[in-house]
Amino acid sequence: MAPHKKINVTFLPDTRRVSVPHGVSLLEAVHRAGIVLPTRCGGKAGCLMCKVSVDPGESAALRPPSEAERRKLGSLLDQGVRLACQAAVWEDVSVHIPEDPLKAAVRRRLEAARRGEAEDLW
Ligand code: FES
Repeated sequence: MAPHKKINVTFLPDTRRVSVPHGVSLLEAVHRAGIVLPTRCGGKAGCLMCKVSVDPGESAALRPPSEAERRKLGSLLDQGVRLACQAAVWEDVSVHIPEDPLKAAVRRRLEAARRGEAEDLW
C-alpha cells in the first residue's frame, strides 16, 4: 500500500467524513473531523476514553490491535470496540462514535417524557 494513499473515514451516527493519510490513528481522524472525544492519557492506551466501534466486516480496515490494546479491551475487541488512539486506518472505514453519557441521559428522559413516563424518571 502506498504510504501517501488517502483513506476516507466516516464517523457515525452524525455521518461526518474526513480523508486522512494511510496509517494515521483513528483519534487523529476524529480530531480532523472536528469531533470532540475527550481523553485523559494523551493517546497512551491508558484512559480507555477513546473507545469507538467498527462493524465486524470492516475490522480489517484498521491495523490489528496491539498487545496493549488487546490487554485493555479484552473481549470488547470481539464486539468491534477499538481504542481510537491505538487503531490506525488502513482502508476506508465507518466508525461508530459512542453517544456522550450526558446527552444519552437527556435523550432517554425526553423519550420517556414523550411516552408519558416523565414523572418516574425525574
Ligand atoms: S486516549 Fe486514552 S486510551 Fe486512547
